[in-house]
Amino acid sequence: MLPTSLRRLQRTCVTRRRELVVGIALCLFLYVYVDSLLSPDRYLPASPQLSALELKALSWLDLENDGVYFKPRHTVVSPLPRLVITPTTPCSKTSFIVAMVPSPPKDSRRRELIRNTWAAAVRSGQWPGSEGELGVTMDVVFVLGLTTAKENGQVATEAKQYNDLIVGEFNDTYRNLTLKTLTGLSWVSQHCLHTSFVVKVDQDTMVDFSRLTAFLSAHQAELRNTVIGKLYFNSKRREKGKWRVTPDEYPFSYYPTFAGGPCYIISMDAVPKMVNVSRYLPSFAMEDVHVTGVLAHAAHVRQHYMQQLRNWYQKESACVLLARPAFQVSLTDLSYDRLRHVWDGITSGVCRPFPK
Ligand SMILES: *[C@@H]1O[C@H](CO)[C@@H](O)[C@H](O)[C@H]1NC(C)=O
Ligand SMILES: *[C@@H]1O[C@H](CO)[C@@H](O)[C@H](O)[C@H]1NC(C)=O
Ligand SMILES: *[C@@H]1O[C@H](CO)[C@@H](O)[C@H](O)[C@H]1NC(C)=O
Repeated sequence: MLPTSLRRLQRTCVTRRRELVVGIALCLFLYVYVDSLLSPDRYLPASPQLSALELKALSWLDLENDGVYFKPRHTVVSPLPRLVITPTTPCSKTSFIVAMVPSPPKDSRRRELIRNTWAAAVRSGQWPGSEGELGVTMDVVFVLGLTTAKENGQVATEAKQYNDLIVGEFNDTYRNLTLKTLTGLSWVSQHCLHTSFVVKVDQDTMVDFSRLTAFLSAHQAELRNTVIGKLYFNSKRREKGKWRVTPDEYPFSYYPTFAGGPCYIISMDAVPKMVNVSRYLPSFAMEDVHVTGVLAHAAHVRQHYMQQLRNWYQKESACVLLARPAFQVSLTDLSYDRLRHVWDGITSGVCRPFPK
């Protein structure tokens, strides 16, 4: 026999159960609804070509009225870093794409891994696995800044050996990342104009170039004068942490629509315009926002939302890249070992969870 107090509690629970279920359902509904309002990108159809008007409607930043900031100044306010080391040859005449990988000077081991894995594949035009032929070839260059005399010396040796380093005259720090990308783009705009696209790839990111080149080849005509990537709408300027930006550096609370940093693509016709306009605009530390948002806007370059380019943070498994072809083209935040693990998965076609 249960004590009466427990019985009473049991009765209450039974009668209240319906309210509880309704409450939870309501919370769930509100959560999904509010979430859909706050992140429109999640509810867009796959790879839409958004019109300028639609993009504007999705942005809380009034680019017309706040627009003075986004207009080129009359004089050069952000000079491009001088090029200290460059490849001695331009991009290959037959290259369709040039991939540009920002890399800290000390990470020669990571660059070696990239050269031996995906870079070797795209340079030869042979992607492993069932897809095989890429149908196109690519150039791959790394972009670095300066550090200690000793490391600069090692970088110079590495540059002689591989001829794939671009070194700009700026201190290689996280807050100088914008300078790093602009250094790379400025070399590319002089020596790779005959290629069709530049793909910016972080060194911790694995891109399925088989799917990406297929997409870019198929839509080349529509993708002129365009930045392509995972677009972020109404992203807020952060006051703290790694991504902090002060109002002096960027005056608004919201950023213009931009493409996420781990991997984005710029059609080559847009690159010289963006590089040129960068010199006439103040620059700030958020590399992806400045380049694919502010500069794209100032240079009248369109933005294309490529939903498959999700730049997923995939901690548990390498499988997503392989298993959901229509959905996933890039994984990011990969350590040295995980990058190699994902590459092994692509090469063998066998999907294994990351080792613990
Ligand atoms: C790098 O920073 C040091 C001081 O930290 C400065 O003396 C030097 O001029 C800087 N180099 C460049 C290229 O800006
Ligand atoms: C790069 O970063 C350093 C340290 O954050 C800073 O002092 C310097 O002014 C920046 N710019 C250049 C061109 O090195
Ligand atoms: C570079 O940009 C400036 C500022 O917008 C512009 O006045 C100039 O004509 C541009 N130069 C070239 C070569 O496009």
